[in-house]
Amino acid sequence: MNPVVSLVAVSVNAPGADLDSWCDRVRLMVKPRRFEHVLRVAQLASDIALANGIDPLRAYTAGILHDVARDLPDRELLRLAPPECPIDSAHPLALHGRAGRVLLERWGYGDAVVLEAVEDHTTGPRGPNGVAMAVYVADVSEPGRGVNDDIRGLALQDLEAALKLAVGSKVRYLRGRGIEVHPRTLRAFEALDLAE
Ligand SMILES: [Fe+2]
Ligand SMILES: [Fe+2]
Repeated sequence: MNPVVSLVAVSVNAPGADLDSWCDRVRLMVKPRRFEHVLRVAQLASDIALANGIDPLRAYTAGILHDVARDLPDRELLRLAPPECPIDSAHPLALHGRAGRVLLERWGYGDAVVLEAVEDHTTGPRGPNGVAMAVYVADVSEPGRGVNDDIRGLALQDLEAALKLAVGSKVRYLRGRGIEVHPRTLRAFEALDLAE
């Protein structure tokens, strides 16, 4: 087992509790530039949450944790999150949200809302979880990406509209190029009432 993955579990069940130690743990798991992205996502997710009546501390925490598995090797992602569909098998990077959730649960992290946000950040929120919505939108539109400024601006006014724009654009982009859409993303798309 990856020595970092096998770090001793600690029990943290309250939203935002012991956030500094979780932040340090994420810092050990990802590349330095990724960690800078993580901090920007956390700040933006918190700002979006605050503007939309969602718990900002939970959104910040989910932002800190969302990419905890992003820099693991493919074999580790496949072990933590066995593929559910051919896209997962062909592109194990698609598994890093699910794998991150598994990792956090093994470490004793217990906030179900935050865990769902981590799991869903790669493929789109499956249900009405405001924290998951904030993190998904923050991840695709944080300023360091240099794209999606429109989505970021909209999210600070109307998160649901921004999520529809983000998920809708992604699905239409992939379909327009004949690229198969991940089944979980399709479910998120349908849940937003965007399907034609
Ligand atoms: Fe990610
Ligand atoms: Fe990310």
